[in-house]
Amino acid sequence: MAFAALLLTNCSSISKTSETKQLSNLKDVFKDDFLIGTAVNVNQIQETNPQLTEVEVTHFNAVTPENIMKAEVLQPEKGRYDFEMADQLVDLAKQRNMVVNAHALIWHSQLPDFVRRMKDADSVRHFFKDHITTVATRYKDKVYSWDVVNEALNEDGTMRKSIFLDKIGEDFVVEAFKLTQAVSPETKLYYNDYNIEQPKKRAGAIRLIKQIQAAGVRIDGVGIQGHWNVNNIPMKDIEDSILEFAALGVDVMFTELDISVLPNPLNESTADVGAHAEYDARMNPYAGGLPDSVQNKLANGYESLFRLFLKHKDKIGRVTLWGVSDADSWLNDWPVRGRTNYPLLFDRELKPKAAFHQLINIKKDVSSNQGTNHVQLK
Ligand code: XIL
Repeated sequence: MAFAALLLTNCSSISKTSETKQLSNLKDVFKDDFLIGTAVNVNQIQETNPQLTEVEVTHFNAVTPENIMKAEVLQPEKGRYDFEMADQLVDLAKQRNMVVNAHALIWHSQLPDFVRRMKDADSVRHFFKDHITTVATRYKDKVYSWDVVNEALNEDGTMRKSIFLDKIGEDFVVEAFKLTQAVSPETKLYYNDYNIEQPKKRAGAIRLIKQIQAAGVRIDGVGIQGHWNVNNIPMKDIEDSILEFAALGVDVMFTELDISVLPNPLNESTADVGAHAEYDARMNPYAGGLPDSVQNKLANGYESLFRLFLKHKDKIGRVTLWGVSDADSWLNDWPVRGRTNYPLLFDRELKPKAAFHQLINIKKDVSSNQGTNHVQLK
């Protein structure tokens, strides 16, 4: 009897511990809703910081390489591919039961120098076909999804000027999906861009998706990057976009979510990696720490977003944060170098922030969430 009682006590304390653990794990808390991803960089792949690794595997079940699958890394010189880091990432993700969203096959930025220098259409066409075919073939059964084309649009919904538009023409988007589908028929194929929640740019994205579909080519989803500012999270536009994109029969993803708390030195809200502004101390107000009022505002912004995502969870496949901790965010150096930003869910010591706790609390009643998350790679 005493033994049974002891067992019972132990069992309940064990289940309590695992319940607490589940409650505090993002990926478990949202396991019935959507994947929870993070961007990873070389240091995470090389596991240079065990604490960072711990946070990553505890909270996330999807990864997007922040830089290492971009063309300048994968094909630094014409015909010379370097798959070392990408292969490591794919192996590591498999060991950890995380899905990989590969990013990005065709993008005007972070192109190798040899492509930037190209003058004639034939060379660009050759790169385009060779790069897509070689890379997508290598990872065909290893990555869950590809951002096939990244950022092909201007703010007004027209096609962005790029070497691909210039040398291949408007059809380059459809072509990229067609080539990827041909060599990687099982991989999910996405179009990814920033500000496509904005009405004009959204209309451009809808036009592209329809063009791809009309050509009989598969597109599985659209990625809204989600680089927003704490003073301007366009909730209505986001909701309208979820509905309009989903109506086309594609999954909606939030692929690079981060919320800047710093003033925007640019004239427009953009996530154009080519945009830059000079350092100015007034543009870096929280170098000594983030006031509680802003911390709370950030937490409320995240909470509102996730409440919206949950409302439309049947249409949303994944929500990916663009990094794990504030220390690693690209927003410390873009669009101004050397600022101190606080856009993510974990602070510089890798401790969960108010935003994290509020997200967990949205779904406090997770008694039905039993066991760990099992994401199945096809
Ligand atoms: C950014 C990375 O975070 C930086 O480390 C890099 O220097 C530039 O690119 N849109 C995208 C991402 O699709 O690939 C960009 O990532 C951020 C904007």
